Amino acid sequence: MNQKVILTKKFGSNEIDILKKKYDLIIVEEEGKTLKDIVKEHYNTVALIPFLSDNVNKEIIDSLKNLRIIANYAVGYNNINFEYAGKAGIFVTNTPDILTNATADLTMALILGVSRRILESDKYMRGGRFSGWGANLLLGKELNGLTIGIIGLGKIGLATAIRAKAFGMKIIYNSRTRKKEIEKQYGFEYRDMDDLIKTSDIISPHIPYSSSVHHMFSKDTFRKMKKDTIFINVSRGGLMDENALADVLEENHLYGAGLDVFENEPEVNERLTKLENVLMTPHTGSATYNARSGMGKMVINNIEQALSGDMPDNTIPELKNMLKY
Ligand code: DGY
Repeated sequence: MNQKVILTKKFGSNEIDILKKKYDLIIVEEEGKTLKDIVKEHYNTVALIPFLSDNVNKEIIDSLKNLRIIANYAVGYNNINFEYAGKAGIFVTNTPDILTNATADLTMALILGVSRRILESDKYMRGGRFSGWGANLLLGKELNGLTIGIIGLGKIGLATAIRAKAFGMKIIYNSRTRKKEIEKQYGFEYRDMDDLIKTSDIISPHIPYSSSVHHMFSKDTFRKMKKDTIFINVSRGGLMDENALADVLEENHLYGAGLDVFENEPEVNERLTKLENVLMTPHTGSATYNARSGMGKMVINNIEQALSGDMPDNTIPELKNMLKY
């Protein structure tokens, strides 16, 4: 009999077919039950594939008595109690690198969309209001010469910074560790957080979410930003206090915001939906054919490695030493 693998939601059909051939695959969304119920029923499952919207807590982990790996279908893994899993000897893996370009592309799309008022322009056209070229029609900001503050110069932060540089922007950044080699190579400048917040024309965080950075973008932080700053968030909704963001936007303190992630997904703050200078996408940072199919392949590879007793390639850094054998 094949080993059991639980997948919470469907992804690419090619990858699903591979999983079905190798394992007894249970797809939660097809069962019409909650993940909590499914894990109790299929307690002898060896691999769990959650999405970033699935809360893999102690209860879920404890229910799966033979679990060897939690192979997250995302680069972020704040949805998993990975410390608890690690202590129980369970691998936790993610899908880094493959979605870097897709996410950096979407970051640029949001920056361009907000700076050039694409949402308003599109509504204007569809509303039949276009009556001819106008010298003052829907003027926006030019990116060349603006300063972008990147918080977190990991892979996605760096890919975004390189794109922004190609648009003629000055790059300042803040990260846990200063990256002098990268500064030299690309001409980026390191700034302390307060300085970055106060001087950037565009601010884009690219850091993992944890309780220590919950609401790092608070009312105070937004108020410290220059009056016409563009705020971008493709990382995690919990980084920002959405009501505070709505407050400052309603007070015209910011130029606009481009958001791919939200505090209480899939709920969307109604106040933000009413603002035309807020451009929103439904957490589609990694939503390219290439990235999503690569993520599926990585998940399969990680499961195979874990089940054959090897350390999976994409074991999260926090568990690499803990699970070494
Ligand atoms: C992830 O994989 O963590 C990203 O949020 C996808 O957009």
